[in-house]
Amino acid sequence: MKAADPPPPAAHAPAPHPRGDELLAAAWEARDGALCPFSKFAVGAAILDGAGRVWTGANVENASYTLGLCAERVALFYALAHGARDIQHIAIVTGAAAPSSPCGACRQILFEFAGDATLTSAVKDGQQLHTSVRALLPHGFDASSLT
Ligand code: THU
Repeated sequence: MKAADPPPPAAHAPAPHPRGDELLAAAWEARDGALCPFSKFAVGAAILDGAGRVWTGANVENASYTLGLCAERVALFYALAHGARDIQHIAIVTGAAAPSSPCGACRQILFEFAGDATLTSAVKDGQQLHTSVRALLPHGFDASSLT
């Protein structure tokens, strides 16, 4: 598969979220805040919580490369730190040719704090990937695994 090919449809892909377009617009706006001088790969994320509030973030990179944070974790930690719970949906946007999906580190954090959420990843030409956090990390590890 070439990089520009659309991704294959995910098994049991959820329908688009009713507030999906609003969240994507918020993610595009948040993407303008990305600090990505090293990769030049700007990512925006928007998160809908159980109270209907929207929280946003963008990726932040630093000179000691591995310490930067993806947009998804910036948005999710920001939301959680402000009391957001029961995360419903996550929108991600990039300037790539095809929708990307969260990195492995983000999948773990999303699984632990937004395990019931659906997720949409979009790019400028309108292509969208609809999936869920559980579909992205089958058999994930969380606090219940510690017992
Ligand atoms: N990045 C995200 O913010 N989210 C993703 O889903 C994938 C990657 C960021 C991390 C880094 O700042 C840049 O994109 C290139 O990997």
